Formats: sequence, C-alpha cells, structure tokens
Amino acid sequence: VSLTVIRSAEEFRLHCRSLAERGPLGFVPTMGALHSGHVALMRYASQQTRSVAVSIFVNPTQFGPTEDLARYPRTLEADCAACEDAGVELVFAPDAAQMYPAGDQTRVRAGALATGLCGASRPHHFEGVCTVVAKLFALAGPCLAVFGRKDYQQWKVVQRLARDLFLPVQVHGHPIVREPDGLAMSSRNRYLSEEQRGQALGLIAGLRQANRRFQHGERQVEELVRACRERVEDHGLRIDYVELVDAEELQPLSQVTDSGGLLAVAAFAGSTRLIDNCVLGQEAP
Ligand code: PAF
Repeated sequence: VSLTVIRSAEEFRLHCRSLAERGPLGFVPTMGALHSGHVALMRYASQQTRSVAVSIFVNPTQFGPTEDLARYPRTLEADCAACEDAGVELVFAPDAAQMYPAGDQTRVRAGALATGLCGASRPHHFEGVCTVVAKLFALAGPCLAVFGRKDYQQWKVVQRLARDLFLPVQVHGHPIVREPDGLAMSSRNRYLSEEQRGQALGLIAGLRQANRRFQHGERQVEELVRACRERVEDHGLRIDYVELVDAEELQPLSQVTDSGGLLAVAAFAGSTRLIDNCVLGQEAP
C-alpha cells in the first residue's frame, strides 16, 4: 500500500469514507514530529483495523500565549516516511485555515476531567484539544482512534468527548513508550540540551520511587506524592505539579486503596515542560 497525503478537510472525509468501506478504520491524531511512541500507536491501530489514517496538525487553539506553538517541531517529510514504514495509508496534513476556516467560532468545552492536572496550569488547553479532536472525528467518521497514555488526562478527556457527543469513535489508550533509560517518548524531548536530558530522568525516577513505596505498603497520599516530588527535584527539574488522583475521574484522592490511583507529574527542564504518569500498583513505570 502506498501513502496518500492530503491537505483538504473535505478530501480527508471522502478518503476516510472509502477506506471504511473496505473494513474498520484506525485513526491516530498527532501534531507530527513523530517518534517511536507514535509509531507504536500506528502499529497498534493497524493490528486492530483494516487501514489506518494519521492526522498531522499543530493545533494553535490548544497552546497558551506563552507556550511553544511557534517553535513546535515541524518535520512533515520525515513524518510521512515514518507513516509509510508503519503501513499507514492516509496522512491528513491540513493548514490552520482548513481546520479553522474564516468565520469559525464554535469551541468544545470539556468538564471536570479537564480542570485539574494539566488543565489547571494550561487553562484553555483542553478546550483546544476537544475542539480539534471533535473536528477530526467528524471528518474521519466511524473509526478506532488511538491515543498515547503519556497524555493520560487527554486520553480520558477525549474518551468522554466521544461518549458525550455520541461520536462513532472508539477511543483506545496505548501504554507509554519509553526510551531504554525510562524517559517517556515525547516530541518535546528534542528541545532538551544534554544536561536537561539528564534532568528529565527525574520524572521516571520520581514515579518509580513512589511506586516502590506503594509496593511496600505505603498508602498515604502525601507520603507517595512527597517521595515522587523529592526525586523529581533532586534531578534539577522545576515541578509544575505532582498529584495522585483516581484513575477514572481524575479527582484528588484522600486515601489510596490497593487498586492504586494515577500518579501524574509535570515539570520543567529549562523552559521545556515535560509530563509523565503511572497507575500505582497496576504497571511498573
Ligand atoms: O496529543 C496530541 O498530539 C494532540 O493534543 C492532539 C490529540 C493531536 C490534538 O491536537
């Protein structure tokens, strides 16, 4: 199969419709700068479906005014090669005017799932994500969409979006893909200097430390959070948040049970904001 790259929203809709006639369609929405984590999502999608479409769009509405929209890496040629290697049939790479044509004014607001964690420090982020994902899902039509669980909150928010708006999309979360030393793969890792790359290991060190304490019986939220924070800070990262929340509704936990909870971290290495998470007791980070 050869790869088709299209720019127009209407053409994307028509291509998805014709792919879906041949069997189940997989869809991986991305902002490009693809890495092995994305490739794992594509491969997972292609195991579950007949054909896979990928969107590559750096969505302006999900970036805050002081964030990295302008410097976000754009590597379309390499991205298309990676898609082709992974057996993807269709790439949708629109420009901003395709996704937000003149007169566009509708925004999709998420609920309580989006208010804590990253939603607290990035106030309009999930509205931007929900808006663009709703547009992409409307164009793709019935499909199985795959999201990475590094952005755990995004995965949950998008799952709820599809459910609440009766969109014909099944939303699957793929486990975090890590570098050999444990750093979660992210397009933003390429901003890191050598020193910051070392600091970034504080995320996984913090998660592992808290997970060890959990395995050894610690159930106090403050203790688990403190254990994580300590490691993150030891590595020279500046913490945005470390929180332990219930893994479904993402609300703060006062008590951890044996079924665990989501431990989520966001921290800055220099000006680069990195996130990572693990579900305590369910997976070794
Ligand atoms: O995770 C991402 O790359 C983006 O937030 C998404 C889901 C493609 C929406 O722009």
